[in-house]
Amino acid sequence: MNKLYLWGIIIAGAMLGATAYVLKYLKNGLSGDIVNILAIAGAAALVVITVFVVIKYVHQMQVEQATGELADESWDDIGEYKNPVPFGWAIIFLGTMIWGMWYFTIGYPVNAFSQIGQYNEEVTTLNKQFDKKYANIKGDELVNMGESVYLVECVACHGLNADGNGEIDAADLNQRISEKSVKYAINHGLTGKLLGSEATMPDRTGLMNANNNYAPITDIEIDAVAKYVAGGLKDKNSAGAKVFAGTCTMCHGPDGKGVVGMAPDIATWNTKLLVNVLSYGKVAAIGTMPVMDRLNAKQKEAVAAYVMSLSKGE
Ligand code: HEC
Ligand code: HEC
Repeated sequence: MNKLYLWGIIIAGAMLGATAYVLKYLKNGLSGDIVNILAIAGAAALVVITVFVVIKYVHQMQVEQATGELADESWDDIGEYKNPVPFGWAIIFLGTMIWGMWYFTIGYPVNAFSQIGQYNEEVTTLNKQFDKKYANIKGDELVNMGESVYLVECVACHGLNADGNGEIDAADLNQRISEKSVKYAINHGLTGKLLGSEATMPDRTGLMNANNNYAPITDIEIDAVAKYVAGGLKDKNSAGAKVFAGTCTMCHGPDGKGVVGMAPDIATWNTKLLVNVLSYGKVAAIGTMPVMDRLNAKQKEAVAAYVMSLSKGE
């Protein structure tokens, strides 16, 4: 046997042996994973093929003489044979052109893959699954979902105790409303969407004085009614209750529970009001409550249930 082939076999054998040796010390070896097995088989094939291709060309250089017709041109005595393009190459060249035209006109446009499209499809499917899975949850389950949403979306502003960090950053959600916020509503009026549609709460110049219907509400009355409302409209004999009956009842109702299409409930929370706050945001005494559009309808309902659970039992 030729010395060259002997060397080829020795080198290939050594490389395969080294691969096998390393494999032995890999933690999981080749166990079970088809990808690893394929990679190793590929590596072994590469070793063998490379070694024998190299041998072939080295052998060719050593023994073979080139033959054929030389081109007319001679570049400083370096000649070039007139070899025809190998048939296989020509086929591949033409094939590539045909494939390229197909891909450009039909292949890509028809089969186009889009990551964004795939993402959107997955989101739609998962949203459907979510809707189906949670369509009927209520009670504690809903409150628990709401708490999770709260911890992700609301805690940054409203705080772990849901008190808005002392109403510095956001509203205190343990109570329906604070004195500060009632006073702000009266002094400045409100043009938000607590009802889901635009309904304006007039400012103090448009709110009547409880004793004299032709004069606007006074500072003393504002203080009293703010205290009454913030206290949950409980102290029915207070001065605030009197102002409320004279000035606010016509819109907010005698018990402050709101009148449909007219004014919101300011005595307690309700799901619709909370969902409106999440859907439209709110700007008032403390600052800006952002629109929470990334929550879906169920999540809004859940976080509303959680907020309502906070002031229960008081
Ligand atoms: C003309 C009807 C009208 C009258 C009178 C009125 N309100 Fe309002 N009030 C509204 C409307 C409408 C809103 C909701 C505004 C909005 O969506 O931003 C509102 C909102 C409020 C809010 C804000 C609730 C929140 O969640 O922030 C408070 C507090 C309030 N009113 C208190 C009062 C008090 C106290 C009086 C009496 C002194 C009064 N309102 C009189 C119509 C009225
Ligand atoms: C970027 C800070 C921020 C985030 C996040 C935030 N809020 Fe608020 N929220 C506020 C501020 C500020 C107010 C007070 C608005 C005002 O001045 O009345 C507020 C007010 C509220 C109110 C009171 C509305 C009323 O009518 O009195 C509720 C309820 C509320 N937020 C619920 C939530 C919930 C639930 C989340 C989470 C899904 C949340 N907020 C996320 C800042 C935030």
